[in-house]
Amino acid sequence: MTRVTEIRYVGYAVTDFQAEKKFYEEIWGLEAVPSNDGMAWFKAQGHDEHQVVRLRPADENRIDVIALAADSRADVDALHVKAEAAGCKIVRTPAPLTTPGGGYGFRFFSPDGMLFEISSDVARGQRRDIARWDGVPVKISHIVLHSPNHQAAVQFFTDVLGFKVSDWLGDFMCFLRCNSAHHRIALLPGPACLNHVAYDMEGIDGMMRGAHRLKLHGIDIGWGPGRHTAGNNTFSYFVTPSGFVAEYTSELEEVDFDAHQYQVYTPAPLIMDQWGIGTGGPQTLPHPAPNPGLFVAVEA
Ligand SMILES: [Fe+2]
Repeated sequence: MTRVTEIRYVGYAVTDFQAEKKFYEEIWGLEAVPSNDGMAWFKAQGHDEHQVVRLRPADENRIDVIALAADSRADVDALHVKAEAAGCKIVRTPAPLTTPGGGYGFRFFSPDGMLFEISSDVARGQRRDIARWDGVPVKISHIVLHSPNHQAAVQFFTDVLGFKVSDWLGDFMCFLRCNSAHHRIALLPGPACLNHVAYDMEGIDGMMRGAHRLKLHGIDIGWGPGRHTAGNNTFSYFVTPSGFVAEYTSELEEVDFDAHQYQVYTPAPLIMDQWGIGTGGPQTLPHPAPNPGLFVAVEA
């Protein structure tokens, strides 16, 4: 089945462009990608994805775009047909991309009004092996979104974009895979917005060394360190200067994309966090609010 196969990048609009830029480049551990479009682009050093974050200076903080990957132009074209048939508003039909790394892609609004891009043939970037104590991100691990109708959103991601359900937490959190990683997207109830973006670290030591660097810059863990049950990944959540949540994670479970069967976990403290020794919790992170500008597309 034609499907999305990976996450590429998340585009943010931010009011304090310099602070957010400094955060990703000097504190979070990403690397600047050259561009001349007035925006700031960053890549993760441990993977050849051309970019993982885009920042656009703006007068409000919001998610501009979530970019996903497909394997080929034919898949991009097929997913465009499926999105349109599912009633999605198409913002740009499939065409060559002018963003760094180029490629071929299209943009559409999800049923909730979040802007997505699906692309193929984007240039590969440089990568290096991340060592145990480097404490910098290898790549994007997963994105968690809220939806006012999260059951319908699960149907959209599975039926239209080709994801499969990997696990449920109660009836409110669904983990979805698009490759062998246990989850690349997860969905929660709530107003249409981003919950957080997680970055894979090189083991638990990579996560903890990253948390150490953030602490040196005055940014403490908002929730963690801990280990989730669904996906079995470790976690530490932080808040960026613009109020977005970013996570360092490691050891996310690998599954058989075709054969993995989902479980339904009953929510409980030691299910949410199998260690149970961390600070904070979901309640200590920013509360979800509707993403400003739903169904309003950024031009770039
Ligand atoms: Fe996460």
